[in-house]
Amino acid sequence: MQKKTIETQFTICSYNELDNTAQHLINKAKEQTKTSYSPYSSFRVGAAVLLENGEIVTGSNQENAAYPSGICAERVAIFYANAQYPDVPVKAIAIAGYTNGKYVQLPITPCGACRQVLLETEIRFEKDIKIFLYGEEHVCMLNNVKELLPLSFVKESLKG
Ligand code: THU
Repeated sequence: MQKKTIETQFTICSYNELDNTAQHLINKAKEQTKTSYSPYSSFRVGAAVLLENGEIVTGSNQENAAYPSGICAERVAIFYANAQYPDVPVKAIAIAGYTNGKYVQLPITPCGACRQVLLETEIRFEKDIKIFLYGEEHVCMLNNVKELLPLSFVKESLKG
């Protein structure tokens, strides 16, 4: 028997410490919370995806009376980016949550399904996707999606 440990590296900083590009991406994610359709959870999420060509694609969570049919902001944004720009790598994603009349105090992290989808985009373009998770108290940054989803299921897994 062998015990193994996985470590995740992330950075915490204030919004003001970030460069203009990161601040702009976060602002876009925050702004996009306004388009959320979330009558069931009242939890608004906005995501902004920065592409290598400088384009920013945004998305928000879209809920449904048939609950599982709804989809998170991250997947709305990343699938839209991949559909509009199938050959352009993704450089970064910013995510912001808003509920009870204010942005969340502490950053929210993407759900498992969104991590899986983001990871495939990272692998597909062979380019790390930086992650900026916004909270009023601080911003959490990760250098790539692999940090968020170790022991992942990838296309090689399908070979058995
Ligand atoms: N949600 C997102 O859009 N992204 C996340 O990272 C976490 C959760 C959405 C799904 C659902 O519409 C609402 O937030 C409450 O879970």
